[in-house]
Amino acid sequence: QGHVFTYDPGFTSTASCDSTITYIDGDEGVLLHRGYPIGQLASKSHYLEVCYLLLYGELPTAAELEKFELTITRHTMIHEQMHNFFRGFRRDAHPMATMVGVVGAMSAFYHDSTDISDSQQREIASHRLIAKMPTIAAMAYKYSIGQPFVYPRNDLDYAANFLHMCFSVPAEEYHVNPILSRAMDRIFTLHADHEQNASTSTVRLASSSGANPFACIAAGIACLWGPAHGGANQACLEMLREIGTPDRIPEYIARAKDKNDPFRLMGFGHRVYKNMDPRATVMKQSADEVLELLGVEDNPLLQVAKELEQIALHDEYFVSKKLFPNVDFYSGIILEAMGFPTSMFTPIFALSRTVGWVSQWKEMIADPQNKIGRPRQLYLGETARDYVDVENR
Ligand code: SDX
Repeated sequence: QGHVFTYDPGFTSTASCDSTITYIDGDEGVLLHRGYPIGQLASKSHYLEVCYLLLYGELPTAAELEKFELTITRHTMIHEQMHNFFRGFRRDAHPMATMVGVVGAMSAFYHDSTDISDSQQREIASHRLIAKMPTIAAMAYKYSIGQPFVYPRNDLDYAANFLHMCFSVPAEEYHVNPILSRAMDRIFTLHADHEQNASTSTVRLASSSGANPFACIAAGIACLWGPAHGGANQACLEMLREIGTPDRIPEYIARAKDKNDPFRLMGFGHRVYKNMDPRATVMKQSADEVLELLGVEDNPLLQVAKELEQIALHDEYFVSKKLFPNVDFYSGIILEAMGFPTSMFTPIFALSRTVGWVSQWKEMIADPQNKIGRPRQLYLGETARDYVDVENR
């Protein structure tokens, strides 16, 4: 074979970075946000407080939290002219396609928060993205089901407002059950950030060119959409539905083990966790709580999920390869029970992860030395050769 060239960009190019935001120990199943264990944050805190922690590094005082929550609440509406964007899509467009388009287009509307060299503009962009993402996700949902858009309300908290915007109709207000709102908020918290996963690395790489924050977050949404990443919650529910009944599980377990079969057990395995994903543990408790509240604990999908989990946790293949249920395994069951279509599962992941993307983006902007540079390659192609005219080929 010819000589192997390696591409040298002429400067130190790293595909990794330093960060103080999130720590994961995949072997021990540990996830810390600014040092706080995810289990404590999920049970004792709430999403906007976790947003503050991720953005600023410390838990807020009561006064700081009140001011932050008011700021977010007051930025939940989107520019009225952006409604036209949604109407340009087909009704059956996947909500993730709509979100990528609309979020990217925010840079065409919010010119006072695109200059990343201005710290004030970076702050405004951060707040706008966190505040408006639930509104955009809810509007994508409403548009896909042919219902009118529902405006956010300032008297509802972040999670309740999202449920309101998704499920209220002009003819009838949706009464948010506090337990469902708490479960929704917990899903937001459990998905808030996760170190240098594919979509966060995409945001960092896009930001390293100096692109505006809205374009960078749109890139993160696009990457998250993949079924190996954030799209896994939708793929997992569709897999459970395809399995249908517990007696059909062995057929799918066999397929997952078959190296010649591209089928993967959706909701299992992780690039980092070789122990139980600590988020899945909390999510499982939340699933039991929500399904009991809704009186659907005998949900056939949940029966298949629980049976599948037990088999996978004891099957030699999964045990030897340390393939545990991940965060996506139970989130889809909760969202399905709440009444969301599977097409909304990943948009909900995207709105939750916005604070992680924004926090990591801010961290990188603040330290230019911490940029993900131009990743290296090992060139394995042809060595140099001369052009051959078509008549001589
Ligand atoms: C998320 O990075 C993040 O942090 C992501 C995320 C976040 O919060 O941002 O945590 C969110 O993306 C969670 C993952 C959601 N994806 C899925 O549930 C899709 C199904 N999972 C697989 O696609 C897979 O597990 C990956 C992509 C998640 C990880 O794949 P890897 O890196 O190959 O996993 P591995 O190295 O641990 O695999 C070891 C072995 C391999 O077989 P061998 O080469 O050793 O023979 O296990 C196999 C894999 O082929 N394997 C599976 C499997 N996952 C891995 N076999 C069957 N079913 C699976 N789900």
